[in-house]
Amino acid sequence: MVQIAVVEGDGIGQEVIPVARAVIEAVRPDFSLYDVEVGYGRWKRTGSACDAETMESLRAADAILFGAVTTPPDPEYRSVLLQIRRDLDLYANIRPIRGDGFDLVIVRENTEGLYSGIEWREADRACTLRVITEKGSRRIARCACTLAKQRRHLTIGNKANVLKSDAFFLEICTREAEEAGVPCKAHYIDALCLDILMHPDRYDVIVTTNMFGDILSDAAAYLVGGLGLLPSANIGDKHAFFEPVHGSAPDIAGKNVANPIAAIKSAAMMLRHFGDTEHAAAVEEAVRLTVAKGTRTVDLGGATGTREFGEAVLGELGALI
Ligand code: NAI
Ligand code: MG
Repeated sequence: MVQIAVVEGDGIGQEVIPVARAVIEAVRPDFSLYDVEVGYGRWKRTGSACDAETMESLRAADAILFGAVTTPPDPEYRSVLLQIRRDLDLYANIRPIRGDGFDLVIVRENTEGLYSGIEWREADRACTLRVITEKGSRRIARCACTLAKQRRHLTIGNKANVLKSDAFFLEICTREAEEAGVPCKAHYIDALCLDILMHPDRYDVIVTTNMFGDILSDAAAYLVGGLGLLPSANIGDKHAFFEPVHGSAPDIAGKNVANPIAAIKSAAMMLRHFGDTEHAAAVEEAVRLTVAKGTRTVDLGGATGTREFGEAVLGELGALI
């Protein structure tokens, strides 16, 4: 039986994940879902935000559905997300963005680059090492090429004109695309940040390094009306982790106003990951129909609550499956 670890996290994670969970339960009663707690609450109680035992229960899952965790202003606290991404070697961060007349996927390298964690402070300067490896570049390029082969083409977001590390990344990605027979173009990342907003229809799969992908995908959220709408997958060779792009949103937490679409669409990505494209498409269609009928949360100009939006989606879904 497929085992899903569910981590609500905190803030609006505790509001949007129950909605996503209900959607999975509606379409796949054969999946077994179990809760795992990580984050600041656990850290305060036990001294560890994600101890060895917790990591084992995440590792044992066929997939993880994750809400969001708040980063507390505590210098002792270490990011759980970085720990999970590293321990489970979730090297590909995949962020699809679809709207009127465009359908693109940002494939971000998730383990190295400027976020490789090799950094230090000296008296009068601070340094962060930007490490790009052949292994890291090749596997993210292959992941992007596999996607691009099923779709249309590949864009390699880079700054090879300035950074040697990016010239290396570009070389490897170009070679992989050629070998895979995928049409590919290189694009400087700064210009790409503007062009993706002006001409999103020109893009399909975009592969880029860690921090560039982080910035590019948040900026691209503008295309669809905000962070509450964007799902993501973090994929490795052995593990898969699905989460909304947004964080715990403490400014709106506990008020039943958060938009659960990003969480629901993350659940749909999970279904697709298991090869269940039929239910994934039904879930996406149920969301589309709900919004089209005017049922909207506050961020989309409506007044529907998180829970009520979820119930409306389940209603549409019931008629589709
Ligand atoms: P955020 O994504 O939580 O919120 C940014 C803005 O977008 C806020 O105004 C929020 O109200 C709004 N927003 C986000 N999701 C929404 C939704 N579903 N519906 C309606 N509005 C939504 O980012 P922020 O404020 O920078 O971070 C808050 C906390 O979350 C921090 O502690 C941060 O470290 C953490 N965080 C955690 C992430 C994760 O666990 N994956 C990712 C990003 C941030
Ligand atoms: Mg980000």
